[in-house]
Amino acid sequence: MAEERQSIHGQWSSRMAFILAATGSAVGLGNIWKFPYITGEHGGGAFVLVYLLCIFLIGIPVMMAEILLGRRGRQSPINTMRSLAKEEKLPAIWKYLGWMGVLAGFLILSYYSVIAGWALAYVFRTGSGLFTGATSDGAQTIFAELIADPERLLAWHTLFVVMTMIIVARGVKSGLEKAVRYLMPLLIGILVMLVGYAMSEGAFQEGLHFLFDPDFSKLDETAILTAMGHSFFTLSLGMGAIMVYGSYLPKNTSITKTSIIVALADTAVALMAGMAIFPIVFANGMEPGAGPGLIFQTLPIAFGQMPGGVFFGTLFFVLLVFAAWTSAISLIEPAVAWLVENHGQTRIYASVIAGFVTWFVGLATVFSFNIWSDVKYWDMTPFDLLDYLTSNIMLPLGGLLIAVFTGWLMSRQSVQDELAMRYKGLFNFWYGVLIRVVAPFGVIVVFLNAIGVLD
Ligand code: PFF
Repeated sequence: MAEERQSIHGQWSSRMAFILAATGSAVGLGNIWKFPYITGEHGGGAFVLVYLLCIFLIGIPVMMAEILLGRRGRQSPINTMRSLAKEEKLPAIWKYLGWMGVLAGFLILSYYSVIAGWALAYVFRTGSGLFTGATSDGAQTIFAELIADPERLLAWHTLFVVMTMIIVARGVKSGLEKAVRYLMPLLIGILVMLVGYAMSEGAFQEGLHFLFDPDFSKLDETAILTAMGHSFFTLSLGMGAIMVYGSYLPKNTSITKTSIIVALADTAVALMAGMAIFPIVFANGMEPGAGPGLIFQTLPIAFGQMPGGVFFGTLFFVLLVFAAWTSAISLIEPAVAWLVENHGQTRIYASVIAGFVTWFVGLATVFSFNIWSDVKYWDMTPFDLLDYLTSNIMLPLGGLLIAVFTGWLMSRQSVQDELAMRYKGLFNFWYGVLIRVVAPFGVIVVFLNAIGVLD
């Protein structure tokens, strides 16, 4: 029976270890790099509101479902879906949900590691004092020079992929817990400091107004789709990352509580990043819609002007790399767990293969910012396309299928047993309202709206 199943890959040492690992997965470039720039591109407040609604109404319920599936299946997402489908007498086709997740993981990591490479490069740029006294023009030029150079980007991308694979090869659990425990609070500390700087030196009122005053005229179909997609991306949902972490979760830990803690921590980090960045954007007459370079063009100005900026700036980028690292590991873990389970590979071998594929696909993103910047499909560079396909389509689709599987296809008894919620009413609400109705139909409505069916 499922109750006695054990993961061959081991288990977290405690509930705290799982919370730390899941928070490590959730908090990453999505919060600090992506959230501010897409918020800037989509006009601020109204976008943020939709994003928050999606986190609470769809993200948290789906996270609970994903963890419970993982813990019940106790294997890589592909094999978990295969065994759960068998157990519930459902068609074996459900294993393809796991496959889609593996594919999404590769595609996301391929560009994620390029951006993490920018952060790595910035550790050294900031550390050398390059930004001391920097103006907005100076910061923009330094960024433009970096991304115009494919060789440099390639070198940083390669370094980041290697760093990720070393950890994955050693097994996700050793070390991750300790590192997240100490470095995450530091990251939050430095974000608080940056918000403090934005309060005293930036256009703080204007920044808050942009982030939190919704102007619904700016909210088009793509903005809604992007906000929903980002709620999956930022919580690491819809591709099996949280599922595979759930498969290492000891029985008797509350899935509900842990999901809420992880989601709240993730949201807090994103909002803090926004509150640190937009006041600097407005104080320096910059464009909120500047795109993927936004944090790399704004934060160095703050570090260049504040006392101790070289130290704090370097520390910030070190922590950003670290946050990206703990997320990257979870992006590839479903694939590596599967290679170990089905092909009897060692983790080392599995990681080398996975790393090579990621690295290779990543070339498309490296070149998107320079030699291929004119290569466009549907008006998108290869990087934009990868991001759109994964965040806006694959992850929400994965989340939708997870909600349908858990809410409509698994027996209610299995779900109830696995979730083991203490309050019956709360379970009924999550089950009857959130996972069966709000989450799946929410995703469907946003999809239909995006393709213009609802006009
Ligand atoms: N949640 C990570 C971030 O916000 O940076 C990115 C991510 C990790 C997405 C793992 C998806 C995933 F499965």
